[in-house]
Amino acid sequence: MSANYEVRGNVAVITLDNPPVNGLGHATRLGIAQGLEKANADANVKAIVITGAGKAFSGGADIKEFGSPKALAEPNLLSVILAIEASDKPTVAAIHTVCMGGGLELALGCNYRVVQAGTQIALPEVKLGLLPGAGGTQRLPRVLGAENALNIIVSGEPVPAEMLAKAPGQKLFDKLVDANVLDAAIAFAQEKADVRPAPLVRNLKAQHPQREAYFQFARNMVGGMSKNFPAPLRCVDAVEAAFTKKFDDGMRAERELFTALMFTPESKALRHLFMAERAASKIPDVPSDTPTREIKKVGVIGAGTMGGGISMNFLNAGIPVTILETKQEALDRGVATIRKNYEAQVKKGKLKQDKYDQRMALLSTTLNYADLKDSDLVIEAVFEELGVKEAVFKTLDEVVKPGAILASNTSTLDVNKIAAFTKRPQDVVGMHFFSPANVMKLLEVVRGEKTAKDVLATVMQIGKKIKKTCVVSGVCDGFIGNRMIEQYSRQAGFLLDEGASPEQVDKAIEKFGFAMGPFRMGDLAGNDIGWAIRKRRSVEKPGMRYSKTADLLCEIGRYGQKTGAGWYDYVPGKRDAIPSPVVTEMIDKHRASLGITPRKISDEEIVQRLVFSLVNEGAKIVEEGIAARASDIDMVYLTGYGFPMHRGGPMQYADEVGLFNVAAAMKRFAKNPNDDAEFWQPAPLLAKLAAEGKTFS
Ligand code: 3HC
Ligand code: NAI
Repeated sequence: MSANYEVRGNVAVITLDNPPVNGLGHATRLGIAQGLEKANADANVKAIVITGAGKAFSGGADIKEFGSPKALAEPNLLSVILAIEASDKPTVAAIHTVCMGGGLELALGCNYRVVQAGTQIALPEVKLGLLPGAGGTQRLPRVLGAENALNIIVSGEPVPAEMLAKAPGQKLFDKLVDANVLDAAIAFAQEKADVRPAPLVRNLKAQHPQREAYFQFARNMVGGMSKNFPAPLRCVDAVEAAFTKKFDDGMRAERELFTALMFTPESKALRHLFMAERAASKIPDVPSDTPTREIKKVGVIGAGTMGGGISMNFLNAGIPVTILETKQEALDRGVATIRKNYEAQVKKGKLKQDKYDQRMALLSTTLNYADLKDSDLVIEAVFEELGVKEAVFKTLDEVVKPGAILASNTSTLDVNKIAAFTKRPQDVVGMHFFSPANVMKLLEVVRGEKTAKDVLATVMQIGKKIKKTCVVSGVCDGFIGNRMIEQYSRQAGFLLDEGASPEQVDKAIEKFGFAMGPFRMGDLAGNDIGWAIRKRRSVEKPGMRYSKTADLLCEIGRYGQKTGAGWYDYVPGKRDAIPSPVVTEMIDKHRASLGITPRKISDEEIVQRLVFSLVNEGAKIVEEGIAARASDIDMVYLTGYGFPMHRGGPMQYADEVGLFNVAAAMKRFAKNPNDDAEFWQPAPLLAKLAAEGKTFS
């Protein structure tokens, strides 16, 4: 049983006890129901207090139970709340630390609520693509009014209890205490033990003087902000039902909307994301209690595009940074860029002047390696050439104190080779940030063959501190993200060869949900970057097939926005991508030289070929152990490559489509003479799962 029962004086105390956050799983629900029965049967008990053990009142329904028969098993949450409401003896919720989702709904079923200051109150179901399904949309408006309740339900954001306790006319909390909430709730229960009838939220009336106009306004606001996600608008529908229907009818309306949302791909994607995010922070062979090294001072080598952004992450977290360069001008340029970025934030009101001053005061610069000798972590972000990295790491090995972590931000080079330049390969790791490094959430933590476990644990910890989503990758060319994007880019090229235009490809994948298609993205990042990689590839993997259109584009100097022309034309000073007749002619000529007759390609084929190319390479990455789990790949794509959130990542999307269907499509693509038949053989892991009717997750 995951709820404890005891009697203190004449008050029964039911304590939810399901670590880590007292999720309302089946055993906990049963424990509460049985506690209520006991308390009601005990003549000595005059009132009942419900509270939570450990670090939460309750984080809500047990997310880990979703989709399993246990989630629906009686007593379900609605039955438990009904039992609380039906109790002969007054019930008091003693709320502390975290009270969310079903936890708040449970508290709203009690007659009274005593809350401890500092408690985070939320109905975060919308973040899982759901709405509160155990009365939250019906009861919260009755105690907080339409505006406050709707804000909480539609945003899913936590609100401090003291703020709500001070809201005019609120009936959510009966008492706010600074500490010892359980004692306060017991005393409160004793006070109210004989009050009859005890108040019930369901008996309050939900009223709004301009209901229709208000909810129309809310729909307009919410609809505009919730593209691709159905839940926020359904939240508005459910809350409005509290104002238009009798309580029980409103509850039924809420239930229907909740159940429908539970089966949407968007909700599945968001629930997957919640679990994937937490799973990514765990490394199978590195226990969570692995001791970590202390990181109090950071060195960054190179003040270019990446070095500056990387430094800002640590400054933002209050960690001093020293940047090293070879020339004073490069240092000055780098610091000026950091300053400019912060000043822009101050101008927009996103950063206070004193915070800006504090951050800049933590930054120092040097041309001398000796100034890095006391650093706990040094991150190298110099030119992407192995020889340059070798010189840097050999010098770091000589100068920096023992036990310091030496990291490389390389995007393509072999971290094992870099580690071998030092006499301490166990201390070397890849920290692959994404550009702009101060903005992008993703940090690929590249584990070398010899990287020590405590180094990994430390980097994961510091990554979290600087607010990154860390995903561990083994060493391979391109690590997880770039290795996959190469296949995606190859497909984009083949599509042009076969008859699609850059704008058709971009539009199709943008409609699927990507913020930017591959060609607009190429123009933004610079087409010359891919060109350099392909040149290297032609030496390393001479047989690899790819479309030459991107090379031809670079040969005529169309690198993208920075040269005023790329796959598209650009008007100086503007970023609008204008289809280019020059590019159309170039593609047509190239196609003709290949002897390909252009064909009409459907948007569906475009999306499938682009997305399934990610999936097939992703499956190989999981099988090779480069990623620990398929959901890590989804995290990489959601946080680093603009994969649409509502699809849950490439691997989750493939699960949703069905791996059998995905493999069948790949076999079809393999028959296309203008594509790469070898690549389209389903990866063995994918083929196996498809044959067994299983999914990646
Ligand atoms: N059920 C089960 N496990 C949960 C959980 C929940 N509702 N909420 C959090 N957890 C687990 C996490 O999976 C994680 O487990 P792990 O250690 O095995 O990885 C652990 O608790 C700690 O979670 P965090 O890393 O997120 O810890 P934090 O301290 O940063 O945050 C929290 C705690 C604020 C509770 C945060 O986890 C959170 O926001 N949880 C989501 C709560 C939520 O969405 N509740 C609504 C559920 S849906 C619902 O109630 C439906 C109802 O209306 C019918
Ligand atoms: P950049 O060219 O903007 O900056 C490199 C900086 O390093 C320059 O300021 C240069 O003066 C300095 N430098 C060169 N040799 C040095 C040395 N021996 N000692 C000290 N400083 C030296 O390059 P960028 O884009 O910042 O890339 C740096 C690293 O980050 C590369 O390894 C790159 O592959 C990687 N990377 C780049 C990304 C990007 O989008 N630009 C994304 C992720 C990784």
